[in-house]
Amino acid sequence: MTKSSKPAPLEARSSGPLSGNVRVPGDKSISHRALILGALSVGETRISGLLEGEDVLNTAKSMQALGGEVKRTGDFAWTVRGVGVAGFAEPKMALDFGNSGTGCRLVMGAVAGCPITATFDGDASLRSRPMRRVLDPLALMGAKVGNSAEGGRLPLTLEGAREPVPITYRTPVASAQIKSALLLAGLAAPGVTTVIEQEASRDHTELMLRHFGAEIVSTKEGAHGRKIALTGQGELHGADVVVPADPSSAAFPLVAALIVEGSDISLADVMTNPLRTGLFATLREMGASIEESEVRGDAGEPMARLRVRASKLRGVEVPPERAPSMIDEYLVLAVAASYAEGTTIMRGLKELRVKESDRLEATAAMLRVNGVGVEISGDDLIVEGRGHVPGGGVVRTHMDHRIAMSALVMGLASDKPVKVDDTSFIATSFPDFIAIMRKLGAEYS
Ligand code: S3P
Repeated sequence: MTKSSKPAPLEARSSGPLSGNVRVPGDKSISHRALILGALSVGETRISGLLEGEDVLNTAKSMQALGGEVKRTGDFAWTVRGVGVAGFAEPKMALDFGNSGTGCRLVMGAVAGCPITATFDGDASLRSRPMRRVLDPLALMGAKVGNSAEGGRLPLTLEGAREPVPITYRTPVASAQIKSALLLAGLAAPGVTTVIEQEASRDHTELMLRHFGAEIVSTKEGAHGRKIALTGQGELHGADVVVPADPSSAAFPLVAALIVEGSDISLADVMTNPLRTGLFATLREMGASIEESEVRGDAGEPMARLRVRASKLRGVEVPPERAPSMIDEYLVLAVAASYAEGTTIMRGLKELRVKESDRLEATAAMLRVNGVGVEISGDDLIVEGRGHVPGGGVVRTHMDHRIAMSALVMGLASDKPVKVDDTSFIATSFPDFIAIMRKLGAEYS
């Protein structure tokens, strides 16, 4: 399935100091999970601050198609009446996840624990992404893949397990999507489903499952890993969820404020779960001024206001074990690194190759076309920061929202404007990105 909107090019040019106080939209990961857990619960879930981006709206539609009652009750306010664990109804039509790997893979897990068959599909970007990483362990739990495109890709049909088997599974890559799919399937299995990760990935599923009443225990495993044990066949109970602002979306105005001279901005309610804040840690090592205040939390998810001031940045080395906590932020970190003085080496970026686009190649291309020295060496990205960016390039988006937003940040301080070929995919995760950036003083035309 393809997106109907036409490509929407846009140009970013050197802007005056950015200033003001904004709240970026709700966290995408938490928004998907709130809808899915709400639909698997008994009773009502009330969500405030839901991200109303295309990815999450597609998950909402799929929950509706699977028997949940999903309603919008106000701005970013939604309720879900669930069907209970293993209670999904067979959908009448294919579930279309558009551009979203998270929506698709998590719902595959939830469907795998129900005695139904569902067809999964998405846009050209999602159809090109690997699904076996989720389907193989779900098959060990008893789910069966019917028709699929080559290599187990979308579109495909998944037959849920009639009697799901609890398994112990060591994830081959640090991926919250794989972990979450298995835990969601494990909800319906008798006994304990265990997921072991060598490097801890974002733990929103674990925190939210606990909030909805699941029996789930997470313990340390080795230096950086976790072992998560979920006892299945308990009931989930609808709960209230307050969705904090998405740190992966906050990353764009944040880096823009750092590189545009004289900027001073404030970002409200940004989620500061330590498994998501690798970018903030890295930028601070580079010399960034990022101050936290109003620190608080909801349903186990911490949040804070961030004040960000323009800063002189220096190149650093980013260790591979930090990758899971900033996996979606390397594109915009590469922009910050281009404006830094000195070399930034980002190590262990293999997973970037299987995101909405091959982000390793796309990042290098974005920098190169704008006159920045960059090299890919194995799974590492090396950026030569010279304190300024020549610009003047046209960046290809490859159906990837984060490439578009990163390029539109890069152009706010470059010598010549930076153009992107298509901004339409920004709507998947950050629908009012351009309006919020303009409010802060960004010049786009
Ligand atoms: C997500 C997990 C990450 C991330 C994605 C959101 C999630 O993917 O890139 O944007 O909400 O679980 P992987 O778990 O595959 O690394």
